Amino acid sequence: MDILTHDWRQKTPAAVRSSKSRQELLGTIACRFIDLAVDTQASQPFFSIILGGGRTPKELNRAIVELPPAKKVNWNRVNIFFSDERCVPPTHDDSNYKLILNTLIEPLRIPSGNVSRIPGEMEPREAASGYHNKLAAFGGKQAIPVFDLALLGLGPDGHTASLFPGSPALNRFDQFAAFAGTGPEGWSRITLTYPPLNAAKNVWIMAFGAAKSRAVQQLIRGPYNPPRLPAQAVRPKNGNLVYWLDGAAIKDTDSLP
Ligand code: 6PG
Repeated sequence: MDILTHDWRQKTPAAVRSSKSRQELLGTIACRFIDLAVDTQASQPFFSIILGGGRTPKELNRAIVELPPAKKVNWNRVNIFFSDERCVPPTHDDSNYKLILNTLIEPLRIPSGNVSRIPGEMEPREAASGYHNKLAAFGGKQAIPVFDLALLGLGPDGHTASLFPGSPALNRFDQFAAFAGTGPEGWSRITLTYPPLNAAKNVWIMAFGAAKSRAVQQLIRGPYNPPRLPAQAVRPKNGNLVYWLDGAAIKDTDSLP
């Protein structure tokens, strides 16, 4: 059964967590992130996560770093992979890696050996193939690598990671990472594909601001059409899906589940 043609929304319903206040919601997400990290580390050696880019993670990471309970997490036992990357060097201001390095990895002194960045400086398809191999190695004997959390955003066009409408990566089920085409700012992109995202134990999609309200309504209420709204096909088969939405992203809170 193809993820892009079967409406999985019944099988994997999304929990909606919302707050009118963006700051309040950021604080809640930061607390839940820390709780999940602590709970996970209590039962397994590492808390392994997939992080996305964009403006939202910048705000969230600041909230995580500033929270006193962040000290309860053993940051030496956190593995970081990336949901996508712009094809730029890691020192470039548009690099997702640079964003996460500056706002989370360095402030929390996460060992560089725990961080697997997508080499945006390489030829895109070669970089994607190399990252697929890295993900496959991370997964070990598992057919698909299983992460404890994929923390993603939502674009106004319904993309998540760099799974854009019409992206060649939408139909790549044979690879865990793929060339995604060109992003809105003109950079070539590399993205994780649906399999590793949908194998995660927890998938959180964050959407803040009125610019996302139409995508949010379509994501939750619109016809199931992932080629047009790729985030709709992010449905962790055996995991929890949570949409974190602030008041501006939800035009009419009564209309949501
Ligand atoms: C990226 C992200 C992308 C992002 C959305 C939302 O590299 O840009 O992975 O999917 O999450 O575009 O971005 P904002 O958080 O800036 O709204």
